[in-house]
Amino acid sequence: MRLQGRIALVTGAGNGIGRGIAHVFAAEGAHVYVSDVDGVSAEKVVGEISTSGGKAMALVCDVSRGQDVTALFRVIESAHGKLDVIINNAGLNVREDFRHLSDADWVKIREVNLDGVVRIARDGFELLKASGRGSLVNLASIMAHRGLRQLAAYSATKGAVSALTRALAVEYAPFNIRVNALAPGFVETNLTNRVIRNPMIAKALIDQTPLRRFGSTEEIARAALFFASDDSSFVTGAELAVDGGMSAGL
Ligand SMILES: NC(=O)c1ccc[n+]([C@@H]2O[C@H](COP(=O)([O-])OP(=O)(O)OC[C@H]3O[C@@H](n4cnc5c(N)ncnc54)[C@H](O)[C@@H]3O)[C@@H](O)[C@H]2O)c1
Repeated sequence: MRLQGRIALVTGAGNGIGRGIAHVFAAEGAHVYVSDVDGVSAEKVVGEISTSGGKAMALVCDVSRGQDVTALFRVIESAHGKLDVIINNAGLNVREDFRHLSDADWVKIREVNLDGVVRIARDGFELLKASGRGSLVNLASIMAHRGLRQLAAYSATKGAVSALTRALAVEYAPFNIRVNALAPGFVETNLTNRVIRNPMIAKALIDQTPLRRFGSTEEIARAALFFASDDSSFVTGAELAVDGGMSAGL
């Protein structure tokens, strides 16, 4: 068990990739804080983990609200006084042609995908430091490096997450906190299913993926496990493409 005895926080863990990460981490022995703005989903994931014999606790937290994040870390601090792993996963998108993007939609995307990541990375510092071997993993995306119609605002936030990851790796290294990013390609979740279920778009995306399929949430979770565990003890400031080779192609 590669995370035996470790304390891990996964934001946006009520669904999709975050849920997959929570499951894999719990199966590897971690005590997982399953955090989400949607408390019902978070509790459901905790129930699933408990049924399979893992340790998990649900914490409702909207990462775009400073007071929620403060309360979240307070709970973990009083229970453990440290945090070994943080997965900065909560994210959303609003599909819109950029020229029609409203200020409200831009703020909504930015407040979760970037401001939320910044807040968690900043306010979680002391607990990661207390671990003595902290690992912070940010969910970037292939879209940090590639363009697709109606995803410009989302791409901008993911590009910023990618840059933030490298900068924080340097700043947090003296405290033995490693900071890395995952850049998934396309995985069917609530975030993507409207697009992926369109057969024409699905075919176009798969044609551009050398492995000729979409990824699974478990495959992203396995990559997160690498960054979270001592298997990556000399890796910081890295971004791992988990995209079936999509970003390697033309
Ligand atoms: N699915 C993909 O193909 C893909 C590809 C690349 C990157 N990503 C990234 O992976 C992460 C997870 O995406 P997913 O596909 O699992 O999406 P999802 O929609 O299935 O799950 C996202 C979760 O985040 C939660 N959430 C939304 N806003 C929140 C907030 N303000 N505070 C806390 N939680 C909030 C939602 O309730 C949901 O449970 C995101 O950062 C996304 O950008 C996904």
